[in-house]
Amino acid sequence: MMPGPQTEQGRQAPGKLRIAVFASGSGSNFQAIADQAASGQLDVQVELLVCDRPGAYVIERAEKAGVPAFVFSPKDYGSREDYERVLLDKLRERQIDLVVLAGYMRLLTPVLVEPYYGRMINIHPSLLPAFPGTHGARDALEYGVKVTGVTVHFVDLGMDTGPIIAQEPVPIQEGDTEDTLIERIHQVERELYPRVIGWMQQGRVQLKDRKVAVLAE
Ligand code: GRF
Repeated sequence: MMPGPQTEQGRQAPGKLRIAVFASGSGSNFQAIADQAASGQLDVQVELLVCDRPGAYVIERAEKAGVPAFVFSPKDYGSREDYERVLLDKLRERQIDLVVLAGYMRLLTPVLVEPYYGRMINIHPSLLPAFPGTHGARDALEYGVKVTGVTVHFVDLGMDTGPIIAQEPVPIQEGDTEDTLIERIHQVERELYPRVIGWMQQGRVQLKDRKVAVLAE
């Protein structure tokens, strides 16, 4: 288990953190991260986009940002483990320090989770452990909670169950629809995710059992 920006050999990553973003859809989180990397606000290099949906808009965003993309169709492989072995090779080839799941709509197997445990994070549109799964915002709205939010967590083998690094609340407003709520959640995500990646780059995130501590600057 290696929290923080460490390589698989346990060395501190020299300089910029080399990250891979996994996404399946629009990629607004990818964009926020790529923009901050390009402007120097974040000391990271976005080395790779991994996308499991040919045609997803995030692929266009990667092209514009000059980030190489590996796009694949899961149905071309016999099993999840088969394509994850290919992905693991890509991550190793590019010496990826941190894997950032940003709307990657698939559960991962031990093939990827074990070698990257503590160095793979996800963002989820609810205050976990409430409303895990694919419709976090919709489920919170339908349940009738007054406050929902955004969670960034380490990835483990469960569905949105890994150790929590950061959470931000998003109040539900009178008359909210799924779309208006998701828009406000996205605004929070675009700020929170780069901030957490910055903490990782600075080596300030410590993971012990299920507990995560963020060290002061
Ligand atoms: C985000 O709401 C994220 O929390 C969830 O999937 C969505 C991805 O949005 N995991 P985008 O593709 O980054 O715009």
